[in-house]
Amino acid sequence: MTALPPDAHDPAAPIGVFDSGIGGLTVAREIMRQLPHESIVYFGDTARVPYGPKSPETVRRYSREIAEFLRQQGVKAIVVACNTATAHALPTLRAEQTIPVVGVVEPGARAAVRATRGAAIGVIGTVGTIASGAYDRAIRALRPDAEVLGTACPLFVPLVEEGWLSHEATRLVAHEYLDPLRDRHVDTLVLGCTHYPLLKGVVGEVVGRAVRLIDSAEETAAETGRVLAERGLSAPAGSAPRHRFVASDAPDHFSRMAQRFLGTPLERVETVTLG
Ligand code: DGL
Repeated sequence: MTALPPDAHDPAAPIGVFDSGIGGLTVAREIMRQLPHESIVYFGDTARVPYGPKSPETVRRYSREIAEFLRQQGVKAIVVACNTATAHALPTLRAEQTIPVVGVVEPGARAAVRATRGAAIGVIGTVGTIASGAYDRAIRALRPDAEVLGTACPLFVPLVEEGWLSHEATRLVAHEYLDPLRDRHVDTLVLGCTHYPLLKGVVGEVVGRAVRLIDSAEETAAETGRVLAERGLSAPAGSAPRHRFVASDAPDHFSRMAQRFLGTPLERVETVTLG
């Protein structure tokens, strides 16, 4: 482990946020909303997306490279906005980095346990996230009697990227994936993938309004705020945030898609190739 750049202990230093691509902007957006004084360096691994179907070893290798890149930028904390990267790489990153590393799985699991009434919790995510059992473990660690039902929904990511947020095709696919969860009477459903918060409307319709939807983005931003405050690393009140966006490929596409995930267009996207 090499020495930290000096400004990683500076409350004014940025937070590093990374994802396999564009979807982690849902987490960046929540951080901007809940922690408006914090600056962000966002890295989207657009050259190597998707992580969902890749092996744990490959996702871990990519995640370590990105964490190292962010550390070199002098970030004071790293938020792993990608569920698949959190599921496969969080313990490794925490062991290797000396700055705080926040993932999306634990905050989502905590919120689900708070929300559930009958302890039947559904989790939807990529093939990698569901196969890892990470949500299952995190939820049962908090509530051992919970019944956790995981379902991979791989078609949701391309549908969101296509902008088909309330399209008939998306509704059909959602029924295919979610009807079995509805039939098992889950009362809480974790949206365990960066892209799924954009499908809250369709997902809510299909599973029924009584089912509580857990948005990991909101929970992770709140957790990030808590972690920074605990360590005296919160940005000084009144400071004006400065955000940087970095993609490993196709910055123009990233910029166009950012509008959908972030709600505002990006003026500038840098390109950095890793690996
Ligand atoms: N960011 C990924 C996640 O949250 C979804 C996209 C991908 O498969 O890379 O799991």
